[in-house]
Amino acid sequence: MRKNIVAGNWKMNTTLQEGIQLANDVNEALKGVDAKCDVVICVPFTHLASVNAVIDPEKLGLGAENCADHLKGAYTGEVSAPMVASTGAKYVILGHSERRQYYGETSETLKEKVKLALAEGLTPIFCIGEVLEERENGTYNDVVKAQIEEALFDLSADDFKKIVLAYEPVWAIGTGKTATDEQAQDMHAHIRSTIAGKYGKEVADEISILYGGSCKPGNAKGLFAQPDIDGGLIGGAALDAESFMGIVTAF
Ligand code: 13P
Repeated sequence: MRKNIVAGNWKMNTTLQEGIQLANDVNEALKGVDAKCDVVICVPFTHLASVNAVIDPEKLGLGAENCADHLKGAYTGEVSAPMVASTGAKYVILGHSERRQYYGETSETLKEKVKLALAEGLTPIFCIGEVLEERENGTYNDVVKAQIEEALFDLSADDFKKIVLAYEPVWAIGTGKTATDEQAQDMHAHIRSTIAGKYGKEVADEISILYGGSCKPGNAKGLFAQPDIDGGLIGGAALDAESFMGIVTAF
């Protein structure tokens, strides 16, 4: 059976000291809870090693928010998949819409990042999702299908099974405007059938597909109750231990 996962994406928030405090708070809060899902925090590169030192890896997974599309060498300012793995991190968010939108990431570069991450044993949390215009003009199913096909469909079935997908409609990110349970479920079912078309139903049924975009304690229960929604990728609400835990315990 596929896993339920709630993952925080801290984005470019918190100083190192604030980040260690927040990780500590989440780690402490998890001690009193029998979580029905895997819990992960994806934090800035600068925080990875220090956060890894304060969390219980049995209860809380750690991830980065990106990695480079090259293994090593003269790429000033980049952080490679082996560097991420060497901090103790087990996950890496790839293809977040903010990276596609502001840093020009394409399916071609993402394809490389996914392969490098997998080669290090990292679990990519691969983000897909349409912008508002594509939602409104009705092309959203095709857009998301193309994002998956272009970046991921040259993977073997065994490698594909190691990936977690996150559907994040761009119009719902940080806007307070979440997709309805039905809109999200429809897209998740579409994503699963796209995977089944390439790799078969068995593989499709094993892939965890998370929802992201203004997910909060108040709407998480409804979203997570949908048959094809296996958890959430949480932005703003992950920056406060109490609200993050409110989402974790929605399962
Ligand atoms: P918000 O939860 O702040 O809308 O962000 C979602 C997101 O982009 C997570 O990756």
